[in-house]
Amino acid sequence: ELGPYRHFMQKEIHEQPRALADTIDAVINAGSFDASLFGANAEAVLSGITGIKILACGTSYYAGSTAKYWIESIAGLPCDVEIASEYRYRQAFADPRHLVVTISQSGETLDTMEALKYAKSLGHTHTLSICNVQESAIPRASELVCYTRAGAEIGVASTKAFTTQLAALFQLTVVLGKLHGKVNAEQEVDYLEQLRQLPGSVQHALNLEPQIAAWAERFATKANALFLGRGLHYPIALEGALKLKEITYIHAEAYPAGELKHGPLALVDEAMPVVVIAPNDSLLEKVKSNMQEVRARGGELFVFADQDSNFSASEGVHVIRTPRNVGVLSPIVHTIPVQMLAYHAALARGTDVDKPRNLAKSVTVE
Ligand code: M6R
Repeated sequence: ELGPYRHFMQKEIHEQPRALADTIDAVINAGSFDASLFGANAEAVLSGITGIKILACGTSYYAGSTAKYWIESIAGLPCDVEIASEYRYRQAFADPRHLVVTISQSGETLDTMEALKYAKSLGHTHTLSICNVQESAIPRASELVCYTRAGAEIGVASTKAFTTQLAALFQLTVVLGKLHGKVNAEQEVDYLEQLRQLPGSVQHALNLEPQIAAWAERFATKANALFLGRGLHYPIALEGALKLKEITYIHAEAYPAGELKHGPLALVDEAMPVVVIAPNDSLLEKVKSNMQEVRARGGELFVFADQDSNFSASEGVHVIRTPRNVGVLSPIVHTIPVQMLAYHAALARGTDVDKPRNLAKSVTVE
């Protein structure tokens, strides 16, 4: 069932255009972002809430961290994101008008399930689950549900589940924006068009595989790596670092690029590869000056820039160009290269890509 692929992870990376197309299918077919995507009584629930609290673990937490940027800027609602295993053990403040959104590929992650139960015990009645497995424990315990349609994910390192979670969260954002008067009809058409183009843009990013595989050869010999991003792309830097750690066992950390000089810059020397996610957005100039700080210390830069970023390679600065800027959906497109970088670095190191040491696909214990 691997077809032309060497591992499930590689197959699942390549399935993303299809997985995304399936996940957005209902919205594209309806030609609008409708609350009914989240269940029959979703409109009443979603119009009454005044904020969002997202609870998740691992990669799913990074999907939530990306959604925070969308929800606050597009839907105009306050959003906080918390690691489920932290939330469940602290005395949290609960506002029952806030919607608790859990994100879990498997729907069985114990920490996320317990965090959901805890949120309910604190008085949260409105809960929504974003999940990839029909009828698993977390959606069954939730008021509203949105299933991603990634199909079964076998590789322990989550890939297509993550990007489809992002697509679902973007849909939730636009639905909330409409219900709360922040997204008008014209903007809705615009978001619809961006979503329609998403699978194609992801396919373009997949076509970069040979270039990324060449970079990965160099990564395979490194002991450490830094990942930088800003704004919407900071969570993607985190996801890139997690993928690299999980399957290559290379120590990797991610920072919002503006934090460099507050500490991590001390780590940068010729031996430290620095991956930068640098599409053309409002923070690009800031990212460029952060990159200069790295170069000045001899750090080698590996930059993912889109066609509009206006970057050129130079001594110590390697550039791979992702497709044209896709606006707010850019984090989804820029996930693809960091997945492929980790995958090919793992191949070069000869690790067990689909079953990394010490990890399980579904974490049903504490
Ligand atoms: O099934 P879940 O989405 O709840 O799983 C959460 C994490 O255990 C999971 O994302 C983990 O971080 C992956 N191995 C990441 O690749």
